[in-house]
Amino acid sequence: MAKYKFLQPYTFKNGVQIKNRIVIPPMTEASALQDGTVSMDELRYFDLHTGGAGMFIVPVANVSENGKGFEGELLLLTINFCQA
Ligand SMILES: Cc1cc2nc3c(=O)[nH]c(=O)nc-3n(C[C@H](O)[C@H](O)[C@H](O)COP(=O)(O)O)c2cc1C
Repeated sequence: MAKYKFLQPYTFKNGVQIKNRIVIPPMTEASALQDGTVSMDELRYFDLHTGGAGMFIVPVANVSENGKGFEGELLLLTINFCQA
């Protein structure tokens, strides 16, 4: 019988450890506010989907003010843009 490891913790080379190897992939939900900051809807979405997963990858985000691709896209310029 195969020995699955997906429920075992994993430690990245930088020392960060995740509780298991289940990863939620990035899935666009276009829920950021007009200025690109995280909305309560988005935080609720993250909260609903993180449950037992070891890692949650946030969706597509633009990293410069003139890089916005669509309404609701996250803008990650500084850590301030990630606070709600
Ligand atoms: C609705 C939807 C939205 C997605 N949004 C993103 C995204 O924002 N950023 C990204 O890198 N990948 C995005 N993806 C790609 C997924 O994260 C994933 O890589 C893809 O579905 C392939 O998964 P698989 O390799 O497990 O089949 C999206 C996929 C879907 C179905």
